[in-house]
Amino acid sequence: MTADDATAAERVTAVGFHELDTRMHRRAWPDPELRPPDRGALWIARVRHLVGTDPGGCWVAERDGELLGVVVSFVREKLWLLASYAVVPEAQGLGLGRALLAPALDHGRGCLRGMLNASSDPKAVRRYHAAGFTLHPQMFLRGTPDRTQIPVVRKVREGGAGDFDLMDSVDRQTRGAAHGPDHALLAGQFRLIVSESRTAQGYAYLDEGVILLAATDRRTATRLMWEAIASAEGEVLVGHVTPANAWAVDVGLAARLDLYQEGYLGLRNMRPPAPYLSHGALM
Ligand SMILES: CC(C)(COP(=O)(O)OP(=O)(O)OC[C@H]1O[C@@H](n2cnc3c(N)ncnc32)[C@H](O)[C@@H]1OP(=O)(O)O)[C@@H](O)C(=O)NCCC(=O)NCCS
Repeated sequence: MTADDATAAERVTAVGFHELDTRMHRRAWPDPELRPPDRGALWIARVRHLVGTDPGGCWVAERDGELLGVVVSFVREKLWLLASYAVVPEAQGLGLGRALLAPALDHGRGCLRGMLNASSDPKAVRRYHAAGFTLHPQMFLRGTPDRTQIPVVRKVREGGAGDFDLMDSVDRQTRGAAHGPDHALLAGQFRLIVSESRTAQGYAYLDEGVILLAATDRRTATRLMWEAIASAEGEVLVGHVTPANAWAVDVGLAARLDLYQEGYLGLRNMRPPAPYLSHGALM
């Protein structure tokens, strides 16, 4: 895959994911052609970034110049991560997905540990299980919060590039590998907040809910999630909650959000990170 493939690859994932996305997202769209341009633009910027850092992890399948499938994977400090994986609906279930995943897994051959966000698609689940991943069911919280339940949020401030070292250190303590270059990309796309005391640190990227959250203790994680809820203007979405992160269920239900289940956190040779709510693609 090259950076020039990103626009066409975005279309492959838009149609490949269409049915799953309409189930999961608050801003469901009725037709793949109508995927909100803001989400498509974020996807393209992210994939160009990953093709830049990990060209050997990104592959496409094509026939007569037309893209049929895409896989985007990358390595951060000996952790292999899968950002995106899709085949167009007409070509699914014929072995193309297996062929695409092979070179992406090979890109991570030096890594024992692996992490990915799996959809509930049975075909995807078969591929990840075959690649040695354990599947941990995930929940998500969505709804309009009851604002009378929101506590006063203290010890949370806006973050910036000067916090990246602290954030990388929190990443290492929670998921075992820093986000490194991905923080600059995320900080350009989302609001960044940081909470830091003498004994605990944490951060979160926000956008009408939580995009990614990591903290060294549950108290800090809880503070950051309350800030996400307090600062959202309408509906809130907090995704990728594994059972190891019951603190997030506590906060979400206290805010009167609704609890649902969707997809899996796929992990190889590691425990579910906590307190941690992963980013859908950058983990
Ligand atoms: C996940 C995906 C990329 C896999 O690509 P693919 O070309 O369909 O995959 P393959 O054909 O190589 O493998 C599919 C597996 O599911 C099996 N399968 C095929 N059709 C199936 C069906 N309807 N139900 C359950 N399993 C099915 C196949 O037999 C194969 O398993 P096996 O190799 O153990 O026999 C593709 O299906 C897809 O784009 N799905 C929608 C988007 C998505 O969920 N992406 C993953 C994001 S985490």
